[in-house]
Amino acid sequence: MAVLKPVVLRSLQRTLRGLGGEKAPVLAGHKLLYRCNLECKMCPFWRREDEELLSVADEIRVMDSLAAAGVSFLGFEGGEPLLRRDVGTILREAHARFHTSLVTNGWLLEHRLREIAPSLDLLFVSLDGIGERHDQLRGIPRSFERAVAGIRASRDEVPTVISHTVTKDNLDHSERVVALAEELGVGMTLQIAYDYRTADPMSPERAALRPVIERLRDLRRDGAPILESPEYFDAILGSWYEGRPWRCKPWLTINVDPSGRIVLPCYVLQEYQGSTPVWEVDVRKLWNEFDWSSYESCNRCALACYLEPSLFRWTDFASVRERVIDGAVHYLRRTARTAPPRATTPLVQIEAAHP
Ligand SMILES: C[S@@+](CC[C@H](N)C(=O)[O-])C[C@H]1O[C@@H](n2cnc3c(N)ncnc32)[C@H](O)[C@@H]1O
Ligand code: SF4
Ligand code: SF4
Repeated sequence: MAVLKPVVLRSLQRTLRGLGGEKAPVLAGHKLLYRCNLECKMCPFWRREDEELLSVADEIRVMDSLAAAGVSFLGFEGGEPLLRRDVGTILREAHARFHTSLVTNGWLLEHRLREIAPSLDLLFVSLDGIGERHDQLRGIPRSFERAVAGIRASRDEVPTVISHTVTKDNLDHSERVVALAEELGVGMTLQIAYDYRTADPMSPERAALRPVIERLRDLRRDGAPILESPEYFDAILGSWYEGRPWRCKPWLTINVDPSGRIVLPCYVLQEYQGSTPVWEVDVRKLWNEFDWSSYESCNRCALACYLEPSLFRWTDFASVRERVIDGAVHYLRRTARTAPPRATTPLVQIEAAHP
């Protein structure tokens, strides 16, 4: 019989507070480090020199603060999180408090899998193209081979999803990555590369991107294992091509940098520059005093970890069914070890993951 974690109670409390108009973060993303073993063109993090890591004790302080703020889903990322020797311990602590996810480039996955799999509800492995195309974007030969070997090893241990970043150099590979996900029997999620000031500008041209987004939406509608909802694709098409903005709610996601500092209002606009350590502030108070209004119409990024939760409405039955009821059923089945991984879009699968 599956045992529900304290997160379920927190979710209910948060829902009631939300219905009363109070803002609280639901999802959290935490970079465990900036360092990386790859050198992706579009990525600013491996280039940073301001990394200061937290001890495990301080990582636990971060988690307790996030739990107190009402967070239910914690996604770990980086840099490359599997470079941290203590990642297994950190994940174990996290899994006792939250639904957990981790995003990795997959290079070390086979080697670290046994340590991390029991503490993960979802694992994302990045794949930006097939074969050499992935290696060119990632800057290091054999990255594709290592990532695919990692996915083959992990898919029977933990629900595994390919995380695909669409750039100007791989628009012609997105559909092939969907086919690979199907062949491997895993899910797929996507980001559209955002141009950080300190990385190579790799964002696709809007005109060239449009048919790719439309095609991915159609594949999703036809049953491809893409996690994003059809509404996610419609929101991008509406805001970038048809003058119909979506309303961003960055307050649903809290991001914490490797030193434990909160990145406000979202990590895109702040380029991952945190301000105050999360354990030094009353997050709920901060969340309700901060002026979020100017970010509602931003629409600058299309990152799923912000866009998908922003689309969620408790008054929309389809939303509730797809992301809450299906998600809860999926979670209970999986903890009871009766169901294989499935590519739905429950809130539990929204990776606070991502860059
Ligand atoms: C920053 S990485 C950290 C985790 C791990 N190193 C990896 O690559 O999966 C997390 C995700 O961000 C994506 N990413 C990197 N640069 C990006 C950018 N400029 N815009 C959007 N996503 C980006 C990566 O492709 C990856 O899927
Ligand atoms: S995207 Fe991930 S693998 Fe690539 S350099 Fe950035 S942190 Fe490393
Ligand atoms: S649209 Fe993206 S960049 Fe703009 S506020 Fe929302 S999350 Fe931040």
